Parts: sequence; structure tokens; C-alpha cells
Amino acid sequence: MKKGSLVIVGTGISVAGQMTIITQNHIKQADVVFVAIPNKPGVEFVKSLNPNTVSLTDHYEIGKSRVQTYQDMCDVIINAVESGQKVCAAFYGHPGVFVNPSHRVIEILREREFSVSMEPGISAEDCLVADLGIDPAQYGCQSYEATQFLFRKYTLDPYMTQIMWQIWGVGDHVFKTTTEHKTDGLKILVDKLMQHYPENHTAIIYEARISPFFVSRMEEIRLVDLPSANLNAISTLVIPSLGLPDYNQEVLDALHITEEEIKRNLQHPEE
Ligand SMILES: C[S@@+](CC[C@H](N)C(=O)[O-])C[C@H]1O[C@@H](n2cnc3c(N)ncnc32)[C@H](O)[C@@H]1O
Repeated sequence: MKKGSLVIVGTGISVAGQMTIITQNHIKQADVVFVAIPNKPGVEFVKSLNPNTVSLTDHYEIGKSRVQTYQDMCDVIINAVESGQKVCAAFYGHPGVFVNPSHRVIEILREREFSVSMEPGISAEDCLVADLGIDPAQYGCQSYEATQFLFRKYTLDPYMTQIMWQIWGVGDHVFKTTTEHKTDGLKILVDKLMQHYPENHTAIIYEARISPFFVSRMEEIRLVDLPSANLNAISTLVIPSLGLPDYNQEVLDALHITEEEIKRNLQHPEE
């Protein structure tokens, strides 16, 4: 192994309280910490653990392509590691969940034979499970990047809970940082979704609290009203399941069991 090293950590969504002890130790022990948290108190908390903290969010600029921003973030992290430093890069939430540069730098530096690792953090999805009381085990769960879902021929299963990330920028193929919110993509997304749901099906706009002083946003709307909803960069869309699908009788027959036997043993609250 060469001298420089990198550990990627997640700060949690509500930064000061959701950061694991392992992550705090990595931050304290690093020669330099690069931090990508979209709010000042979060950055300040990391700085209080290690004063040699550099923000990565300065690489976002209005009109600049996000692809270039991610490339610039990767370059500063890689340069610091290659100069022999013990580097910690902290991303908000879980550092491997919907974060492009974290996976990319790990791949590049591992290939160049540096010591690299990632520690898990509390993601928006973890907060959502707690706030909305949705257990992925109950109906199963599908989780997508909204634009990718829109552009590609995914198969949506309405009997599963749907989680749509980055709903604010859905349909943006330019990937430029902007303050303008276009809703053309949202309208087409709703048309696509409504092929699977009844007209009055509701969805939840979810925003986990980013500090213990705030409350989480859990706004129920009709799915058809999504294009006029108030969305922002931290909104995640949750579409509740239609319920449990029917049993697969062929499978039950092959196993010589009946629906009644399963219900007796599972005692599922819905049945
Ligand atoms: C670049 S991803 C970062 C995700 C983050 N790494 C995590 O672990 O949650 C940004 C997307 O995550 C979701 N997100 C971020 N912050 C959130 C919050 N406070 N509440 C709900 N969703 C959030 C939104 O879908 C947002 O568009």
C-alpha cells in the first residue's frame, strides 16, 4: 500500500446527532477532511471535529455541469491522497447512497493501490422508514433516481412502496446546476405513474429534518397533483403500495401449503 489513504464517511441527515462514533473518529484523525454537506451547521460541526476541513460544495456553480462538478470533487480528493495525506471525505446522509464522486474516487484510488474504505451513514431512506413508519419488508420496495426512471423502461410494481429520489430535477438531461424549477418532466412522470394507480392515489413529499430544531416534512398529496406541488432539492417522493398482491397458487401447490396455513402462521395485519 502507498502512503496516502482515504476513508469516505457519511454524516447522517441531521448532522450533529446522526454521525456515528466511528465516523467522528475518522474525521478527528484525518490530515484533511473534505466535506459535502448542503447546510452550514453541518459543515461547522465537522469543522469543530477537525479544523482542517475544506468544503466541496464550492465546486457547484450556477450554469456549471454537475458532471464537471463531480470530476472536480474527485480531483481534489485524489490529489490529497496522492500527496501522501490521510484523507477523510464526508458526504451527508450515507456516503454511498446517490453520491457519484464517493464511488468514483474509491474505484480510482483502489486501482492505484491506495488504502480506501467507506463507512455507512444514516440516509434519507433510513429517516423515511422511521418517520413514515414504512417497513420495506411489508410490501417490498423499489427505489429509483427519478430522471433515470423517467428516461428508461423500468417495470414499476405498484404493490411495492416506491421511493423516487431527486424528484426536483426530474427530466433534466443537461445536468447543469440551476435555481430554475422546470415541471415538464414531472408532468410526464405523473402520466407514466398513473398507468399503475387509481386517480385518487396519494403520495408523500418527504423531507427529513436536517437538524433536531426542525420537523420533517411529510406532506400527503394526490399523485395527479404532483406537477403543482412545492418541491425542492431535498424532496423525496414516496408512493405507498396498493396493498399485497395475490398469492402465487402454483408455488403454494408445489410446496403443498395453503393460503390459510400461511395466514395462520404469519398473522399479517392486513389479512
Ligand atoms: C445527492 S442525493 C444524496 C442522498 C444522501 N447521500 C442520503 O444518503 O440520503 C440527494 C437526494 O437525496 C434525497 N434527500 C436528501 N436530503 C433529504 C432529506 N433531508 N429528506 C428527504 N430526502 C432527502 C432527495 O431525494 C435528494 O434529491
